[in-house]
Amino acid sequence: MDVIQQLSELRKTVTGWRSANQRVALVPTMGNLHAGHLSLVREASKQADRVVVSIFVNPMQFGPNEDFAAYPRTLEQDCEVLRPLDVAVVFAPPVEVVYPGRVSEQTRVEVPGISDILCGASRPGHFTGVATVVCKLFNMVQPDLAVFGEKDYQQLLVIRRMTQDLCLPVEIKGMPTQRDSDGLAMSSRNGYLSAAERAQAPALRRCLLQAAELLKVGGEPAKVESSCCESLEKAGFEIDYFSVRRADDLQPVGAEDMRLVVLAAAFLGKTRLIDNLAVSR
Ligand code: PAF
Repeated sequence: MDVIQQLSELRKTVTGWRSANQRVALVPTMGNLHAGHLSLVREASKQADRVVVSIFVNPMQFGPNEDFAAYPRTLEQDCEVLRPLDVAVVFAPPVEVVYPGRVSEQTRVEVPGISDILCGASRPGHFTGVATVVCKLFNMVQPDLAVFGEKDYQQLLVIRRMTQDLCLPVEIKGMPTQRDSDGLAMSSRNGYLSAAERAQAPALRRCLLQAAELLKVGGEPAKVESSCCESLEKAGFEIDYFSVRRADDLQPVGAEDMRLVVLAAAFLGKTRLIDNLAVSR
């Protein structure tokens, strides 16, 4: 496994693979890897001859009062957990390789509509930062396939739209959320939780399951949302949103829609947790 920081070296390596007709998969991450990331890497290595894992804490996707500075940077530890897996390259570029010049003056990729709702409404500019860096990573690595977790469901839809709209020749694969044994979705941000908050955190998933049960027996989305918000508040969360949407495009649910997703974002103390659950009715 090679750890590469410079674009010229990455390009040389990938060009060699391509001339040998090898299929390349990319797993984009911000590092601080957990079992959720490793499941993406395992899937990538099933589907391609060469796997690149990128590790880059992307400044463009953090708002001014968010945790960019505090976000855990654990490159050495990350390389140790990747070494036993089938990873050809860890691409860990410094900021100036991804953003030559000032981040605020960079060309950006906007995915309108879907970027402005739910997490995008609470975190203005977040999905532009995500779409921009993923587009750059696609151009740098030139993968045939890229693998993302479904825990960031809205992010996955933004990336699918961006890839389709810009005619990028990359197949996007979403993988199921990995959970701790008590149901909490794995996330690097879980490390911010105090012991008491960590004990409260699985209630988020329980409220999503409650919503799914209610929807399956014909519950009205708006009523389901309000009763689940009540449960979540009782469990000690400060709610950002709890919303039932159409699975395909995150638009409000109509009577004819059968494929739904329940999405939630809520704070425990200063930590913002997100999770979602697909529901068919
Ligand atoms: O999901 C993440 O870790 C990030 O948003 C991503 C896709 C690596 C872009 O920085």
